[in-house]
Amino acid sequence: MPSGDHTAVTAIRGAMLTFTGDPFAQPVRDVRRYESDAIVLMADGRIVDCGPAADVAARVPAGTPVTHYPNALISAGFIDAHVHYPQLPVIGAGGKPLLEWLTAYTFPAEARFGDIDYARPIAARYVAENLRNGITTAAVFGTVHRASVDALFEEAERHDLRIICGKVLMDRHAPAELLDTAERGYDEGKSLIERWHGRGRLSYAITPRFAATSTPEQLELAGTLWRETPGAYLQSHVAENADEVSWIASLYPSHARYLDVYAHHGLLGRRAVYAHGIHLDDADFESLHVSGTALAHCPTSNNFLGSGLFSLHRARSEQRPVRVGLGTDLGGGTSFSMLRTMQAASEVAHLGGHPLSPSRAWWLATRGGAEALDVDDRVGTLAPGYEADVVVLDLASTPLIEFRMRYAADIDDVLAVQFALGDDRAVRATYVAGGLAWDRDATPRM
Ligand code: GUN
Ligand code: ZN
Repeated sequence: MPSGDHTAVTAIRGAMLTFTGDPFAQPVRDVRRYESDAIVLMADGRIVDCGPAADVAARVPAGTPVTHYPNALISAGFIDAHVHYPQLPVIGAGGKPLLEWLTAYTFPAEARFGDIDYARPIAARYVAENLRNGITTAAVFGTVHRASVDALFEEAERHDLRIICGKVLMDRHAPAELLDTAERGYDEGKSLIERWHGRGRLSYAITPRFAATSTPEQLELAGTLWRETPGAYLQSHVAENADEVSWIASLYPSHARYLDVYAHHGLLGRRAVYAHGIHLDDADFESLHVSGTALAHCPTSNNFLGSGLFSLHRARSEQRPVRVGLGTDLGGGTSFSMLRTMQAASEVAHLGGHPLSPSRAWWLATRGGAEALDVDDRVGTLAPGYEADVVVLDLASTPLIEFRMRYAADIDDVLAVQFALGDDRAVRATYVAGGLAWDRDATPRM
């Protein structure tokens, strides 16, 4: 697969969609930018110009080839706010609820990642699938083993992909081969931070799996390490499943609510990202809002594991909006495709009585995800100065989609059709830092 050549000037042409603001907070027409025929010009890893082809064409440097993608939509690359790359070997296993699924499939799968030679090909497959699906930024869980993080960061660096990752912290309630200790977790995190954090497009995330698998001592040291590391992330899980919530209540009897356990240990704030958040109430959303903590909404996982219906409507309430991104949550989630994930989010919103507009879903997968991960000044938007992470979607990737698109009424209808019927086949090309990283029609199938 070609890696990005940052010095080259790259120009692509097609329809273009991006957002300049939050369509949950403002009328969508004020924040959605759609051009039916646009040129996006990239150089030195960044977008240097974009807009109507009729205007931009005159500014394209002489001799620069313009790659034309007919019947395609150019968007900011997708952002996966929560995923476990070591779980790729068990995607789709189960039909069990969360805690049984963890014991039966997930922990045995993760136990093998102490061996970097085992981890490397899985990390490579994970990165390749991201590119095939137009995902250009992701917040990723490793396993408890340092080697799991080394393997992913090595591979991400090779592709100049924007990746947030950390070793999982787990010092109880898991098989012995998956446990660290509070101190060892801190020390290993520190050494991974020294090696990787802030190197190119890589950032470290302190990653306590969830409050059930960490002692209070480990949560305390996780908070210490987070505060000591400027720009680092904190990622975990919260309130995914009813049995999990009861278990947390029994493990932490002095805390009235699950989220308080994390708050008490200093684990809320900007660049903290919690997956799921299904069983939260308005007081929890208020403290997420006030602290700037983000949630990753993982609808294919929540459906697959029968976890429940996340209320995006309540989380994004105009009075106290919580930052929300979309997560694939593989391997609890069932698809790498952010189109499938947007479709699942739409269906869950509908079941909850508050339908999600296609434009809002698209924002969640792009600029909203960037806000959730605190990288919205760099990615998630197509505009000059932003890093040139771009996905090009073929709007007629199957015979049925091609047929249905002839009847598309407007851009919202186009988007709705793409995620109702589309998947990885729709990703015509992915550009990472201005370089062509995936070309569906040129690369032999892996
Ligand atoms: N809660 C704790 N660990 C996990 C995990 O690996 N996946 C999901 N979906 N939830 C979790
Ligand atoms: Zn998860």
